[in-house]
Amino acid sequence: MLDKIKQLQEEIGTLVAKSKEETEQLRIKYLSKKGSISQLFDEFKNVPSEMKREIGQALNILKNQATERINDLKETFEEQGNETGSVDLTMPGDSMKPGTRHPISLVKNEISEIFNRLGFKIAEGPEIEDDWHVFSALNFPLEHPARDMQDTFFIEKDPDVLLRTHTSSVQVRVMEHTQPPIRAIFPGRVFRNEAISARAHCFFHQVEGLYVDENVSFSDLRQTLLYFAKEMFGEDTSIRLRPSYFPFTEPSAEMDISCSICGGKGCAMCKGTGWVEILGCGMVDPAVLDSCGIDSKKYTGFAFGMGVERITNLKYQVKDLRLFFENDVRFLKQFESAY
Ligand code: DAH
Repeated sequence: MLDKIKQLQEEIGTLVAKSKEETEQLRIKYLSKKGSISQLFDEFKNVPSEMKREIGQALNILKNQATERINDLKETFEEQGNETGSVDLTMPGDSMKPGTRHPISLVKNEISEIFNRLGFKIAEGPEIEDDWHVFSALNFPLEHPARDMQDTFFIEKDPDVLLRTHTSSVQVRVMEHTQPPIRAIFPGRVFRNEAISARAHCFFHQVEGLYVDENVSFSDLRQTLLYFAKEMFGEDTSIRLRPSYFPFTEPSAEMDISCSICGGKGCAMCKGTGWVEILGCGMVDPAVLDSCGIDSKKYTGFAFGMGVERITNLKYQVKDLRLFFENDVRFLKQFESAY
């Protein structure tokens, strides 16, 4: 019996087939119920018990080898997709699914386009920043508690190298190099040292806006933001500005829009109030203009900053922020036709 096993093993080592059918013939010859290997298994019951262990092991090895070899052959023909084993070059190619834009990119682009229509140009700044551009030039005094409001990732201390906590830093960079009129928006990624949860992440995206010229007023700010809200969330959207505080704007405000989910009736998104906050804004503090080399006696300006994830949530009602950053294609594919 051992000899027979050996002989079959040699045979199997050299098996070849020219087609799927031939492979099937081989399977029948060796592995089907009447196949030569199965027959050996039938004969196994007659093996004297002292030999059973050795022969049993050899038989199992043989069966595994044969199964593996025949499966390999089968696979070659399946991969080639045709039975002669050659490739048909006239077959049409596999269609490729185009990729989809990430929802954050979709919304960031949409925000940019809306402000483009009002003449705002796009500018970008570095993610790795220094203290001056993120805090000092924006009127955060050294010991100002507002610096603690934003838990900062420091790369180096003294001189400070840090990841920007907001895109307001780009305001400073642009004003340092450009004289008014300035009308621009700054989309980008920002970083804060926060524990990751459904509602917070250590990085996210903002779009900052800046308009500096002679005679820019708070009503210009209001009208610009109203236009944005209606373009983004629909003609029926209304806005309200609540007084607030930011070191770099005076006066400052936070802007709510009428809830785009319930239309203002009250729902979980707006916690029953009918309003949801979407951005911070205000008139650029004259001290900031001066820090950046712009004459605050001649020029005034407004600025605003919004979170892209927040706007995306309102548009698409994504409940868990982490979904934006895991890049699970099952999530991303849902935005295929979004834009
Ligand atoms: N930088 C602020 C933040 O990250 C947002 C902001 C508020 C930007 C008011 C502005 C502004 O330009 O005027 O929370």
